[in-house]
This record gives sequence, structure tokens and C-alpha cells, in this order.
Amino acid sequence: MTTFHDKVIYQAYPKSFKDTDGDGIGDLKGIIEKLPYLEDLGIDMIWLNPFYNSPQNDNGYDVADYTSIDPLFGTWEDFDKLVEEAGKRGISLMLDMVLNHTSTEHEWFQKALAGDKKYQDYYILREGKPDGSLPTNWESKFGGPAWSKFAETDQYYLHLYDKTQADLNWRNPEVRRELYKAVNFWLEKGVKGLRFDVINVIGKAEELEDAADGVGKSHYTDTPIVHDYIQELNQETFGRYDDVITVGEMSSTTVKNGIKYSSPKRHELSMIFSFHHLKVDYKDGEKWTTMPFDFLELKKLLDEWQRGMDVGDGWNAVFWNNHDQPRANSRFGDTENYPVETATMLAQTIHLLRGTPFIYQGEEIGMTNPRFDDIDDYVDVETHNAYEEMKRKGLPEQEIMEAIKEKSRDNPRTPMQWDSSKNAGFTTGTPWLKVPDNYTTINTQNETISKQIRDYYKQLIQLRKDHKIIQEGSYEPFELGHESVYAYIRELDDQKLLVMNHFYSEEALMDIPKALLDMKAEFLIGNKGERKLESLFKLDPYETVAFLLKK
Ligand code: NOJ
Repeated sequence: MTTFHDKVIYQAYPKSFKDTDGDGIGDLKGIIEKLPYLEDLGIDMIWLNPFYNSPQNDNGYDVADYTSIDPLFGTWEDFDKLVEEAGKRGISLMLDMVLNHTSTEHEWFQKALAGDKKYQDYYILREGKPDGSLPTNWESKFGGPAWSKFAETDQYYLHLYDKTQADLNWRNPEVRRELYKAVNFWLEKGVKGLRFDVINVIGKAEELEDAADGVGKSHYTDTPIVHDYIQELNQETFGRYDDVITVGEMSSTTVKNGIKYSSPKRHELSMIFSFHHLKVDYKDGEKWTTMPFDFLELKKLLDEWQRGMDVGDGWNAVFWNNHDQPRANSRFGDTENYPVETATMLAQTIHLLRGTPFIYQGEEIGMTNPRFDDIDDYVDVETHNAYEEMKRKGLPEQEIMEAIKEKSRDNPRTPMQWDSSKNAGFTTGTPWLKVPDNYTTINTQNETISKQIRDYYKQLIQLRKDHKIIQEGSYEPFELGHESVYAYIRELDDQKLLVMNHFYSEEALMDIPKALLDMKAEFLIGNKGERKLESLFKLDPYETVAFLLKK
């Protein structure tokens, strides 16, 4: 495996990136059109969310055919051109592999429904309990039970997500072979990156049992057999190449498993996404609530993952945003008063950590949550399920909408804000999801806020290329107990990189110990201009700064 520690990956959500045919939905041609923009940013790889044939109940994560392109997004010609044109700019593609489940529209599920036993064994079908209740008491991650009736039979099929996303039976070797074939299909087309959707929940037991907590996660998350499956997936597909980068999306995982998934000697994946740090504004662990984020908890979690993975030789994907997460600047900063400082501080926190940074479209220009007032302006299936559920519980409309404005997965999915023209230059038609009101000031052509943020991202990306210490340095926390600053030190050979990130709008002070002051400090990057390291170091609101220290 060639090293990928110098790389930065950009996530483009095809549906919302750029529409070229006026149907209100982004397309592959749109991505081709914007390659110069991405090249200028300096990124190495583009992760594209699913664009395969799909009924779009879960925006493409309900795949109806793994080796197809939905006409909604374009043609094979567009895809080949995208690979070629991106390649010319030194950019490769990472595709999203959704191997835990298929759409119920997939040919396999349809054949299963028609009574074909071979295909029934592709899915997880079980009889209800003798008392007529469901096979187990597990919950779907999108709300409601994880089982739905399998046609007119006595059986039910398992769906950990939407009821139109049926979980595949990985215990069946034929299923695994079919999935590997699909992965190889894309590798042969020149794809150099693979993102595996919720890959740590593929290993279900033969005997499924009720969960004591009535939710069921522990019955299928990080089960030992998942590691065997991933090793086999590696051997049968991307492990045959030495330049393919992989990342596994890990739901509710642990550092111990994270190490297993990503340590090179285990031949599983290059790195993993974990999400604990993005739950620090969940009241009592509940997503559909609002509360100010718990900063000390955030630091504790980032630190635990950084240190754990460093010691265990694992590798983190480092990120704040993706298509499922509310915008981090709206969540952890002050986009009203400090839009540039917030965005650049958050960016620097991640980009100088040990791991591979992922940028989600629009964060590089400071896009924010849209805060739509009307539930009908939201499209996401999980959001609507949550709305109905909260209504059933009798919560007041205003409280429900507040939770949705803060937590909906549509927050990051609004169209990319290219310019200040109608629909932010995303489409000439009607966008599938509304454009946030602030597009006239927050867009790629804006010469103030958005430009400053983007220029900072460019610098961070370039610094990673120039400095081995950013790519390979070890990690240790610095003053972890500080109430408003997350600081850390990376170290390689006789160099140290001291990074201080201030998460609040009051001034903050840091005591810099003599051992560090005795080293030769070179200002590397900061969002408040050049600074000198001194014993009582004062940070401005949302200031971020990094010093390179040499003996
Ligand atoms: C995780 C994806 O990121 C999310 O968007 C999707 O709904 C679920 N997996 C189910 O595929």
C-alpha cells in the first residue's frame, strides 16, 4: 500500500453539487464542470455518495443495482469522462459501497419476493415469535421496528435502516461473492477509493435474539465475524491493488475495534470514520434534542481516539461534516459574529490531527445549516420519521422544529452555493432541496468571508503535503483540562508541532511550559496573523494557531 497520509479527501454529494441539465438535481457532468475548482483547492480524491440506480428513498443508499448509473445523475460516458478528467488533474475517485443492504427494488429482493429460495437466502428472513410478535425487538436506526412483513408469508425481513433497505445475509458465501464482483467492477473502471457504508454492522448471528435494551445494536455491531468478512473483502477486491484507499463507516464502534479495522498489519481497511465526537450535543444520548455542545466531552473523545489509534497503529479519518451531520460551524461555533474564525479554527483542529482529513462540500466556504421553518421543506426520510414520532409523543411543534433545524440530515445536503445568482448557481431549475437564505454572501465567488475560509483550507492542505510531521507525527494532548482550548502536540524526530484551537468567544490564556519555550518556535499557521509563542499565551475568540518547534 502506498502511503496516503499526505492526502486530503473532498466529499461531493452529487445530488446537491452542481446541476447541468436543469432538473434540479446535481449530476456527474456538474462534477466534471467543477473539477478546476477542486483542483485549485488542492484535494487529492473526491468521495461521491451513491449515484447508482435507486428509488431514492434514502437518497441513493437504497441501491437497486450496484453496477449502474442512475439516469438522474448521468451516463456511462459521463462517468468515464469524470474519471479521465479528474485523473488529468491528479484527482481520483472514491465511490460509496453500500454492502449492508439493498433496496427492496433490487432484482435479488424482487426474486426473493417472487418465491425464489436462492434469493430468499440473500436476505435475513425470520418467522415471528409464537405469540405473533416480531422475530426480535430490535429497532430500526430510522425509527420503528427493524422488521417488516415479507410479502404475504409468515416471515419478516430485517432492515436496520428504512423498510425499503433490506439487510443482506453476509453468512451466505454467494452473497459475498456477488458483492465482491460489484466492488471489482468499479475498481476495474479506475476507481481508487472505496467508502464502505455502515460496514461494521454486516455480521449478524444465525440465531437472532431479543435485546435487553430493546434496541439491539450490540447484537450486530462489531461482531467478531465482521473482521473476517472485511479481511475476505480486502483479499478478494481492493487488496489486489497497491494504490486503493479505503475507509469504513463505523457505527457506534470502539477504539479497540477501530484499531483492528485499520491497522495495516491486519489487512482490513486504510481507515475508519467514527462518530462519537459528533454526539456531544445529544441530550441524554438522544439525537432529536437541542443543547449546547459539551466541550470537555468533545475534547475527551477526540483525544481518546487520537491517542488510542496512535498507540495501536490504527488510522482515523478526521472530519466534522458529512451528508448525515449538521454543519459543524453552526454547531460548535459562532457563524453570526465569527464566521471566518469559526470555520478556520474548526478546519485547523482537524487538519493538523493525526489522520486523513475529509472536507464536506461547502465547509470550505463557510456554508451553514439552513434552519427551514416548515417541515415540508425537509426531504430526508429519517427527519420525517423523527417528526412523526415526536408528534406522536405530543411534543410542541416549536420544540420539534427546533430539534429538526439543529439535527436534520438535510442541513448539509442543501445545494452547493456557487454564486449569488438565483438558486446559488446550483441549477437553472427548481432545486430538489431549498437553497439557504445566506447564499448571496456565502458562496464560492464571495471575496470576503468565503474567500478567506477557502484560502485557509488551501494553506492547510498544502501544509500537509509539505510537512512530514503533519502526515506521520505522533499525537499527545496538551493541557487537556483547559476549559475553552483544545490543544495538542504532534511529534516527529526532533520536531514538535504545537496546535492550539480556541472554541469560544471570550479571551483564553494558555500557560506554555519552559521546555517548549526553550525550543526554537516558528509560526506555522494561524487565523489571526503571525504570532509569537510566549509563556502566557493569549488567544482571541475562535483563534487557532500552530507553531513548529525545533531543538
Ligand atoms: C450511512 C449513510 O451515511 C447514510 O446516509 C445512510 O442513510 C445509512 N448509512 C444507510 O445506508
